[in-house]
Amino acid sequence: MSEQEIKVPDLGGADEVEVIEIIVSAGDSVEEEDPILTVESDKASVELPAPAAGKITKITVKVGDKVKEGDVIGMMEGGAGGSDDDGSDKSDEPDPKAESKTEAKSEDSKPAPKKKSGGSRTEVVKVPSLDGFDDVPVIEINVAEGDTVGEDDPLVTVESDKATMEIPSPYAGKIGKILVKEGDKLSEGVDLLEMTIEEDGGDEEETSDSGESAKADSQGSKPEAKADKQEAAPQPQGSTYEPPAPGTKVHAGPAVRKLARELGADLTRVKGSGPKSRILKDDVHAYVKSQLQQAQQGTGVATGSGIPGVKLPDFSQFGEVEREGMSRMMAATATNMQRSWLNVPHVTQFDDADITEMEDFRKAQKVAGEKRGVKMTPLPFLLKACAAALAELPQFNVSLDMERKEVVRKKYIHIGIAVDTPHGLMVPVIRNVDQKGLWELAAESAELAQKARDKQLKPAEMQGACFTITSLGGIGGTAFTPIVNTPEVAILGVSKASMKPVWDGKAFQPRLMLPLSLSYDHRAVNGADAARFTNLLAQLLGDIRTLLL
Ligand code: COA
Repeated sequence: MSEQEIKVPDLGGADEVEVIEIIVSAGDSVEEEDPILTVESDKASVELPAPAAGKITKITVKVGDKVKEGDVIGMMEGGAGGSDDDGSDKSDEPDPKAESKTEAKSEDSKPAPKKKSGGSRTEVVKVPSLDGFDDVPVIEINVAEGDTVGEDDPLVTVESDKATMEIPSPYAGKIGKILVKEGDKLSEGVDLLEMTIEEDGGDEEETSDSGESAKADSQGSKPEAKADKQEAAPQPQGSTYEPPAPGTKVHAGPAVRKLARELGADLTRVKGSGPKSRILKDDVHAYVKSQLQQAQQGTGVATGSGIPGVKLPDFSQFGEVEREGMSRMMAATATNMQRSWLNVPHVTQFDDADITEMEDFRKAQKVAGEKRGVKMTPLPFLLKACAAALAELPQFNVSLDMERKEVVRKKYIHIGIAVDTPHGLMVPVIRNVDQKGLWELAAESAELAQKARDKQLKPAEMQGACFTITSLGGIGGTAFTPIVNTPEVAILGVSKASMKPVWDGKAFQPRLMLPLSLSYDHRAVNGADAARFTNLLAQLLGDIRTLLL
C-alpha cells in the first residue's frame, strides 16, 4: 500500500494559519473528508479533511505550528488522491476550497453609504463573499442594537457543515437595526444590519472609500466597545464545572478561541450560553472572572484545585424529590469545610482520658451550680485542659502563612466551641481561656451556646480562635474525625464517655473513659506532638488538680 503526503489545501485566501487541534493520530483509519486537524486564522477555524479514505501513518505538525497551502501535514496509506503532486485526477477530491474558504472579508461587506447626517452616516452592512457558500445559517448574532463595535469585531456567526465563520464589521461604529435573526440563511449580498459611523469633521466624500476614515476612527472606538461588552457580561459561572466527556468538541468561533488563548482559558471547561451551547466571548470573560474570584476567595474548589465537581444525576428518576435553596449559613459552612478539607493535610490522633474523678468532682458541684444559675458540664474542664496543653505545646497555637512561608505564633489562647443549632453549626469563641476559672467558663460557654441557638452572636464573638473543641459527648458516638477549622491547626473532637474495664496492673477496674479525637494539620504539627497533646489532655483530665499547676 503506497504512502502519500497529506497537504494543506487552498485556504481560500488565508496566508498562514495556526494548527489549533490535531484530531487524528498515527494508526487511525479515516474516511475521505474526515477531519484531520483544525487550523485557525484570525477570521475562522477550519477543519482540514482527509483527502482520501485510508490509514494515517504520521502527523508531521503539532498544535501551534503555522501552516500554509501546500505544506505537508502528515502521511497516510490508502486511497488515491490528496497529494498535489501525485498526478491523480483531482475531480474526485473534496473541494478543499469549499472547506477552507471561511474568511468573510470585512472589505467585501463595505457597501455604498445609505445616508449621511451631520458628523455621522448610516450604512447597511451586507453579507460579504462567503467564498462559494450559500444559504449558510446564522447561529449567533454577536451584537445588539446600540452596541459600539470596532472594525473587524464579529457581527454575526454563520456555520456551514464544514466551517464556522464570523462576519466581521467593516467599520467601527454603532449598531443600528439588525436585519437578520438566528436561523436565517445568508448568502452574499444579503442586508445584515444598519450601522452608524461617526466621521471626523464630516467632510469625507460620500463614497464607500470613506470606510478608510472609519477605520481610523475605529482605533478610538475600540476601548468603548470593550467597556460595553463587559457591562453586558453574564454572571460568573458556579464553582463547579462538568468535566467534558472524552472527545467532546469545543463549540466556539475563532475570535472566541483566540480570546481564550490570550486569557489562558481552557475552553473545554467553559460553559457555552450561545445556541447549541456555543461558547461566546462573554462566556470566556465570565469564566475567567469566576476563576479569579474563586482564587481570591480561596474557594477554587473545582478548578483551582483541579478536582472536578460532582455531577448530579436526575434524582427524580429514582423517586419523588423536592429542592430547597441552601441558607446562607449552610452555604458558608459548606464552603469553609471544603476549603479546610482540601487545603489541610489532616491526621486524627485518638486517645481516652480517664475522667472518673473529674466526673465525681463535676457532679459534686451540682448544688453550687444551681446557686450560681450555671450548669457545670464536662466542657469547661475540656476548655481548661486544652488551654494548658496549648501553653505546654505551643506548636498547636499557630497558623501557617504559606504565601510568606511563615509560622504565626499566637501569644493568646482563645478557643472556639462548636455549637449545634437548628440553623446549622456555629463556633463562638471564648477568649483568654487560660485566664478564666471553671465557673466563668461554664457560664460563658452556656451563654455563647444560647446566643448561637438564638442567632444572636456578633461576628466578633466568632472570630480569633486558636483552637476548637467540638463535643458530641452529650449525643453519643465513640470517635470521629473532625475537620480542622483552618487557619487553626488543630481541633479536639470529644465523644461520649462510657464505663470501661481498665487494667490497673492487678485487676480490671471500672473507669469512666472519655474518647478524644484530635485532628491536626500535619504541615504544622507532627504525629509525635499530637500523641503528646492527647497524652497531656488525658493526664490533665485524669487528675484535674494538675490543671492548677
Ligand atoms: N460524655 C458523656 N456525657 C457528656 C459529655 C461527654 N463527653 N459531654 C456532655 N455530656 C453530658 C452533659 O454532662 C449533660 O448531661 P447532664 O445533663 O446529665 O449533666 C449532657 O451531656 C448534655 O450536655 P450539653 O448540653 O451538650 O453541654 P456541653 O457543655 O457538654 O456541650 C455544646 C455544649 C454547645 C458543646 C453542645 O450543646 C453542642 O452543641 N454539641 C454539639 C457540637 C457539634 O455539633 N459538633 C459537631 C461539629 S462537626
